[in-house]
Amino acid sequence: MIVLGLESSCDETAAALVNDEGRILAERIHSQIAAHEPYGGIVPEIAARAHLDHLDGLVAEVMAEAQLDFCDLDGVAAAGGPGLVGGLLVGVMTAKALAAFHRLPFLAVNHLEGHALSLRLKEDLDFPYLLLLVSGGHSQFLIVEGVGQYVQLGTTVDDAVGEAFDKTAKLLGFPYPGGPAIEKAAKAGNAKRFDLPRPMAGREGCNLSLSGLKTAVRQTVTRLGEEWNQANTVADLAASFQAAIGDVLVDRAQNAIRLFRARHSSGDAFVVAGGVAANAYLRTRLSDVTARENMRLCVPPPELCTDNGAMIAWAGIERLRLGKTDGLDFAPKPRWPLDPNAQAKGGERPRP
Ligand code: KG4
Ligand code: ZN
Repeated sequence: MIVLGLESSCDETAAALVNDEGRILAERIHSQIAAHEPYGGIVPEIAARAHLDHLDGLVAEVMAEAQLDFCDLDGVAAAGGPGLVGGLLVGVMTAKALAAFHRLPFLAVNHLEGHALSLRLKEDLDFPYLLLLVSGGHSQFLIVEGVGQYVQLGTTVDDAVGEAFDKTAKLLGFPYPGGPAIEKAAKAGNAKRFDLPRPMAGREGCNLSLSGLKTAVRQTVTRLGEEWNQANTVADLAASFQAAIGDVLVDRAQNAIRLFRARHSSGDAFVVAGGVAANAYLRTRLSDVTARENMRLCVPPPELCTDNGAMIAWAGIERLRLGKTDGLDFAPKPRWPLDPNAQAKGGERPRP
């Protein structure tokens, strides 16, 4: 079984061909970071136009590299949401057109399901498992019970973790995306110098709230006056901020493990996916928790953690195996929680 997967929900345009043994036959990712960098965040109109400019070319390139014809495929999958509607439309319309013309099944994949199942592309990982999805647009604790079966344990009530990194980085004068820059600066910093809040820590459940932390960094910068701009102060701010995020995630992860165990007697994998999973400091903090709680911390390789087409193709394969295909009347969903009951618990805001 071979599926073509398209990703265009945010600022990466991607196409990949994946087979049912988990082999990536070909893949291309076009990052739009340079186009958005001058604005310090993602500009939806620029993103949609860039997806339109690049997607067809990327599809042609992966088909040529894998030396496949469309009649060799078993389905065409596209991220159908959640995300920026302009970009979603480009991917969904392209996939639908290819599917209709070549008489192939069309699969509308929830982008978050792509992240949630991505590790199964690489290794044998049985359901159920616990998932922390942390990216620029999403921060959720979920129990993955099967394909299409998710229980949301908690989410952010304001900023996503990656978004908090990006906004704080902008404040500290780092370029977008800010996560890698903050992690690097924090290495030379003193994490104890600034006493920043740990929002939600100690509370029940595993929701997150990060806008207060971002505001606290802003207030600290204002209080410091001219001094904040010195290299060691910036490093100390970065380290103090990152440590606060680490403490919050550790606290929330402990509760998530408890909630997971209350529901399932089997399953010991704690999967961390999304761009923020690239942060080595946060991974170490979380691995301390999983070691204490007798769980395994599992992180997909970095190229599968950030947005990519292979995870969409793979989720398409998982869905196709179960006969879960979609009609050509599918409309992109800017908001699309994995857990249908999650909206009532308070969903995330669409980014940016
Ligand atoms: O999953 P992703 O590539 O795109 C989406 O947001 O969907 O994640 C990008 C996010 C950005 O907010 C970026 O700042 C953050 O992941 N990020 C990091 C690190 N690398 C990327 N955050 C903290 N530390 C990092 N090393
Ligand atoms: Zn993503």
